[in-house]
Amino acid sequence: MSQTDLDTNLLSTYFTNYAVGHRILHYNILDSTMDETRRLSLQGLEEGAVVIAEEQRLGRGRYGRVWISPSGENLSFSVFLKPTGLQLPFLNMAAALSVCKMVSNSYGLDAAVKWPNDVLVNGRKISGILVETDMQSKNVINAIIGIGINVNLDPSKFSDISNISTSIKNELGQIIDRTYAMKEFLRFFNEYYDLIRKGHPLTTEWSSKLETLGSYIRVRWKNQIFEGWADKVDEQGNLEIIGTNGNVITVMAGEVTLQL
Ligand code: BTN
Repeated sequence: MSQTDLDTNLLSTYFTNYAVGHRILHYNILDSTMDETRRLSLQGLEEGAVVIAEEQRLGRGRYGRVWISPSGENLSFSVFLKPTGLQLPFLNMAAALSVCKMVSNSYGLDAAVKWPNDVLVNGRKISGILVETDMQSKNVINAIIGIGINVNLDPSKFSDISNISTSIKNELGQIIDRTYAMKEFLRFFNEYYDLIRKGHPLTTEWSSKLETLGSYIRVRWKNQIFEGWADKVDEQGNLEIIGTNGNVITVMAGEVTLQL
Protein backbone atom coordinates (compact mmCIF):
# COMPACT_ATOMS: atom_id res chain seq x y z
CA MET A 1 0.00 0.00 0.00
CA SER A 2 1.50 3.37 -0.97
CA GLN A 3 1.46 6.53 1.12
CA THR A 4 -1.43 7.98 -0.84
CA ASP A 5 -3.63 4.83 -0.68
CA LEU A 6 -6.55 4.94 1.69
CA ASP A 7 -6.43 2.04 4.17
CA THR A 8 -10.05 1.78 5.26
CA ASN A 9 -9.51 -1.61 7.00
CA LEU A 10 -7.05 0.08 9.32
CA LEU A 11 -9.50 2.95 9.83
CA SER A 12 -12.40 0.68 10.79
CA THR A 13 -10.22 -1.12 13.33
CA TYR A 14 -9.35 2.21 14.97
CA PHE A 15 -13.01 3.19 15.20
CA THR A 16 -14.57 -0.21 16.10
CA ASN A 17 -15.90 1.12 19.39
CA TYR A 18 -16.80 4.61 18.23
CA ALA A 19 -20.20 5.98 17.17
CA VAL A 20 -18.88 7.03 13.76
CA GLY A 21 -16.51 5.01 11.57
CA HIS A 22 -17.08 1.49 13.00
CA ARG A 23 -18.21 0.55 9.48
CA ILE A 24 -16.50 2.04 6.43
CA LEU A 25 -17.63 1.20 2.92
CA HIS A 26 -14.92 2.02 0.42
CA TYR A 27 -15.73 2.28 -3.30
CA ASN A 28 -13.49 2.88 -6.25
CA ILE A 29 -16.11 4.85 -8.15
CA LEU A 30 -19.65 6.06 -7.41
CA ASP A 31 -21.93 8.69 -8.87
CA SER A 32 -22.09 10.31 -5.43
CA THR A 33 -21.51 9.01 -1.91
CA MET A 34 -24.73 10.84 -0.98
CA ASP A 35 -26.85 8.69 -3.30
CA GLU A 36 -25.12 5.46 -2.32
CA THR A 37 -25.58 6.22 1.37
CA ARG A 38 -29.26 6.95 0.80
CA ARG A 39 -29.62 3.70 -1.18
CA LEU A 40 -27.93 1.71 1.60
CA SER A 41 -30.06 3.43 4.24
CA LEU A 42 -33.11 1.79 2.66
CA GLN A 43 -31.40 -1.57 3.26
CA GLY A 44 -30.79 -0.90 6.96
CA LEU A 45 -27.38 0.80 6.98
CA GLU A 46 -26.16 1.21 10.58
CA GLU A 47 -25.95 4.65 12.11
CA GLY A 48 -22.36 5.90 12.07
CA ALA A 49 -21.40 4.13 8.85
CA VAL A 50 -19.14 6.04 6.45
CA VAL A 51 -19.29 5.71 2.67
CA ILE A 52 -16.10 6.76 0.85
CA ALA A 53 -15.40 6.95 -2.89
CA GLU A 54 -12.04 7.32 -4.58
CA GLU A 55 -13.89 8.98 -7.45
CA GLN A 56 -17.41 10.37 -7.97
CA ARG A 57 -18.90 10.72 -11.44
CA LEU A 58 -21.49 13.20 -10.19
CA GLY A 59 -20.06 14.58 -6.97
CA ARG A 60 -22.32 17.43 -5.93
CA GLY A 61 -22.03 20.54 -3.83
CA ARG A 62 -24.72 22.82 -2.50
CA TYR A 63 -27.19 24.38 -4.97
CA GLY A 64 -26.47 21.63 -7.50
CA ARG A 65 -22.88 22.73 -8.01
CA VAL A 66 -20.34 20.16 -9.18
CA TRP A 67 -17.78 18.93 -6.66
CA ILE A 68 -14.44 18.30 -8.36
CA SER A 69 -12.31 15.55 -6.88
CA PRO A 70 -9.91 13.59 -9.10
CA SER A 71 -9.58 9.87 -8.40
CA GLY A 72 -7.45 8.89 -5.40
CA GLU A 73 -6.35 12.40 -4.44
CA ASN A 74 -8.82 13.68 -1.87
CA LEU A 75 -11.32 12.51 0.73
CA SER A 76 -14.91 12.33 -0.53
CA PHE A 77 -17.30 10.67 1.87
CA SER A 78 -20.71 10.66 3.54
CA VAL A 79 -21.47 9.95 7.18
CA PHE A 80 -24.82 8.33 7.91
CA LEU A 81 -26.54 9.52 11.11
CA LYS A 82 -29.95 9.40 12.76
CA PRO A 83 -30.08 12.61 14.77
CA THR A 84 -33.03 14.20 16.51
CA GLY A 85 -34.40 17.45 15.10
CA LEU A 86 -32.67 19.35 17.92
CA GLN A 87 -29.27 17.83 17.06
CA LEU A 88 -29.56 18.45 13.32
CA PRO A 89 -28.27 22.07 13.12
CA PHE A 90 -25.07 21.07 14.89
CA LEU A 91 -23.98 18.34 12.46
CA ASN A 92 -22.76 20.78 9.85
CA MET A 93 -20.91 22.63 12.64
CA ALA A 94 -19.35 19.37 13.86
CA ALA A 95 -18.12 18.56 10.36
CA ALA A 96 -16.67 22.04 9.76
CA LEU A 97 -15.01 22.15 13.19
CA SER A 98 -13.53 18.66 12.68
CA VAL A 99 -11.97 19.74 9.38
CA CYS A 100 -10.61 22.91 11.05
CA LYS A 101 -9.09 20.89 13.90
CA MET A 102 -7.69 18.25 11.58
CA VAL A 103 -5.90 20.78 9.35
CA SER A 104 -4.64 22.87 12.26
CA ASN A 105 -3.63 20.17 14.79
CA SER A 106 -2.22 17.69 12.30
CA TYR A 107 -0.83 20.00 9.62
CA GLY A 108 -0.32 23.35 11.35
CA LEU A 109 -2.68 25.20 8.98
CA ASP A 110 -4.94 27.96 10.22
CA ALA A 111 -8.51 27.29 9.05
CA ALA A 112 -11.62 29.46 9.09
CA VAL A 113 -15.27 28.84 8.27
CA LYS A 114 -17.08 30.81 5.60
CA TRP A 115 -20.72 30.78 6.65
CA PRO A 116 -22.52 28.46 6.45
CA ASN A 117 -20.14 25.59 5.83
CA ASP A 118 -17.07 26.10 3.68
CA VAL A 119 -13.69 25.61 5.32
CA LEU A 120 -10.99 27.97 4.09
CA VAL A 121 -7.22 28.03 4.47
CA ASN A 122 -5.49 31.26 3.47
CA GLY A 123 -8.79 32.45 2.01
CA ARG A 124 -9.21 29.43 -0.28
CA LYS A 125 -11.64 26.56 0.03
CA ILE A 126 -10.13 23.34 1.39
CA SER A 127 -13.40 21.58 2.26
CA GLY A 128 -17.11 21.69 1.48
CA ILE A 129 -19.96 20.16 3.45
CA LEU A 130 -23.42 19.17 2.29
CA VAL A 131 -26.10 17.96 4.70
CA GLU A 132 -29.12 16.14 3.28
CA THR A 133 -31.96 14.92 5.50
CA ASP A 134 -34.77 12.43 5.12
CA MET A 135 -37.87 13.65 6.93
CA GLN A 136 -41.18 11.98 7.75
CA SER A 137 -43.77 14.68 8.36
CA LYS A 138 -41.78 16.93 10.73
CA ASN A 139 -39.42 14.24 12.09
CA VAL A 140 -35.84 13.75 11.00
CA ILE A 141 -35.30 10.13 10.02
CA ASN A 142 -31.78 10.22 8.56
CA ALA A 143 -29.09 12.80 8.00
CA ILE A 144 -26.37 12.26 5.42
CA ILE A 145 -23.37 14.50 5.98
CA GLY A 146 -21.33 14.76 2.78
CA ILE A 147 -17.79 15.98 3.22
CA GLY A 148 -15.20 16.72 0.58
CA ILE A 149 -11.67 17.54 1.76
CA ASN A 150 -8.99 18.58 -0.69
CA VAL A 151 -5.97 16.60 0.43
CA ASN A 152 -3.58 16.03 -2.50
CA LEU A 153 -5.46 18.03 -5.16
CA ASP A 154 -3.48 20.36 -7.40
CA PRO A 155 -6.03 23.17 -7.94
CA SER A 156 -3.99 24.73 -10.74
CA LYS A 157 -5.04 21.79 -12.96
CA PHE A 158 -8.72 22.85 -12.79
CA SER A 159 -9.42 26.30 -14.20
CA ASP A 160 -12.89 26.48 -12.57
CA ILE A 161 -11.48 26.27 -9.06
CA SER A 162 -7.80 27.21 -9.43
CA ASN A 163 -8.27 30.67 -7.91
CA ILE A 164 -10.65 29.74 -5.15
CA SER A 165 -9.51 26.33 -3.88
CA THR A 166 -6.54 24.86 -2.11
CA SER A 167 -5.51 21.51 -0.61
CA ILE A 168 -3.36 20.36 2.29
CA LYS A 169 -0.64 19.34 -0.19
CA ASN A 170 -0.91 22.67 -1.99
CA GLU A 171 -0.34 24.52 1.29
CA LEU A 172 2.49 22.34 2.60
CA GLY A 173 4.21 21.32 -0.64
CA GLN A 174 4.26 17.62 0.22
CA ILE A 175 2.14 14.54 -0.44
CA ILE A 176 -0.27 13.83 2.40
CA ASP A 177 -1.18 10.41 3.82
CA ARG A 178 -4.95 10.26 3.33
CA THR A 179 -5.44 7.46 5.87
CA TYR A 180 -3.93 9.63 8.60
CA ALA A 181 -5.96 12.68 7.51
CA MET A 182 -9.19 10.62 7.58
CA LYS A 183 -8.31 9.12 10.96
CA GLU A 184 -7.79 12.58 12.41
CA PHE A 185 -11.06 13.85 10.91
CA LEU A 186 -13.02 10.90 12.35
CA ARG A 187 -11.36 11.27 15.76
CA PHE A 188 -12.49 14.90 16.01
CA PHE A 189 -15.90 14.24 14.46
CA ASN A 190 -16.56 11.54 17.09
CA GLU A 191 -15.64 13.99 19.85
CA TYR A 192 -18.03 16.63 18.49
CA TYR A 193 -20.82 14.12 17.86
CA ASP A 194 -20.50 12.93 21.48
CA LEU A 195 -20.94 16.54 22.62
CA ILE A 196 -24.01 16.96 20.42
CA ARG A 197 -25.54 13.76 21.79
CA LYS A 198 -24.94 15.00 25.32
CA GLY A 199 -26.89 18.16 24.45
CA HIS A 200 -24.00 20.64 24.05
CA PRO A 201 -24.56 23.13 21.24
CA LEU A 202 -21.42 23.74 19.17
CA THR A 203 -22.46 27.24 18.17
CA THR A 204 -19.97 29.19 20.31
CA GLU A 205 -16.92 27.27 19.10
CA TRP A 206 -18.16 27.24 15.50
CA SER A 207 -18.93 30.98 15.44
CA SER A 208 -15.44 31.71 16.81
CA LYS A 209 -14.14 30.21 13.55
CA LEU A 210 -16.51 32.19 11.31
CA GLU A 211 -14.55 34.65 9.23
CA THR A 212 -17.84 35.98 7.82
CA LEU A 213 -18.85 37.90 10.96
CA GLY A 214 -18.10 41.61 10.63
CA SER A 215 -17.85 41.43 6.82
CA TYR A 216 -20.10 43.21 4.37
CA ILE A 217 -21.85 40.45 2.43
CA ARG A 218 -24.46 39.82 -0.19
CA VAL A 219 -26.81 36.85 0.23
CA ARG A 220 -29.39 35.29 -2.02
CA TRP A 221 -32.34 34.15 0.06
CA LYS A 222 -35.74 33.07 -1.22
CA ASN A 223 -34.96 34.61 -4.64
CA GLN A 224 -34.09 37.99 -3.17
CA ILE A 225 -30.69 39.56 -2.72
CA PHE A 226 -29.85 41.13 0.64
CA GLU A 227 -26.75 43.14 1.44
CA GLY A 228 -25.40 44.13 4.79
CA TRP A 229 -23.02 43.48 7.63
CA ALA A 230 -22.88 39.93 8.94
CA ASP A 231 -23.48 40.62 12.62
CA LYS A 232 -23.97 37.39 14.54
CA VAL A 233 -25.33 33.85 14.40
CA ASP A 234 -28.13 32.46 16.53
CA GLU A 235 -27.92 29.11 18.34
CA GLN A 236 -28.99 27.18 15.22
CA GLY A 237 -26.33 28.84 13.08
CA ASN A 238 -28.68 31.19 11.21
CA LEU A 239 -27.01 34.47 10.27
CA GLU A 240 -28.21 37.91 11.31
CA ILE A 241 -27.42 40.67 8.81
CA ILE A 242 -27.74 44.40 9.42
CA GLY A 243 -28.67 46.25 6.22
CA THR A 244 -27.48 49.74 5.29
CA ASN A 245 -30.69 51.31 6.62
CA GLY A 246 -30.35 49.45 9.93
CA ASN A 247 -32.90 46.75 9.12
CA VAL A 248 -32.08 43.32 10.56
CA ILE A 249 -32.64 40.16 8.57
CA THR A 250 -32.04 36.58 9.66
CA VAL A 251 -31.07 34.13 6.93
CA MET A 252 -31.13 30.37 7.32
CA ALA A 253 -28.03 28.41 6.48
CA GLY A 254 -29.88 25.96 4.27
CA GLU A 255 -31.26 28.52 1.88
CA VAL A 256 -28.51 30.95 1.10
CA THR A 257 -25.72 31.62 -1.36
CA LEU A 258 -23.17 34.04 -0.06
CA GLN A 259 -20.80 36.44 -1.75
CA LEU A 260 -18.17 38.22 0.32
C1 BTN B 1 -20.17 22.37 -1.18
O1 BTN B 1 -19.13 22.95 -0.91
O2 BTN B 1 -21.03 22.91 -1.90
C2 BTN B 1 -20.39 20.97 -0.62
C3 BTN B 1 -19.49 19.95 -1.25
C4 BTN B 1 -19.73 18.54 -0.73
C5 BTN B 1 -18.94 17.51 -1.48
C6 BTN B 1 -19.04 16.14 -0.87
S1 BTN B 1 -17.89 14.99 -1.52
C7 BTN B 1 -18.69 13.69 -0.69
C8 BTN B 1 -20.18 13.95 -0.80
N1 BTN B 1 -20.70 13.41 -2.05
C9 BTN B 1 -21.13 14.35 -2.86
O3 BTN B 1 -21.63 14.15 -3.99
N2 BTN B 1 -20.97 15.56 -2.30
C10 BTN B 1 -20.40 15.46 -0.98
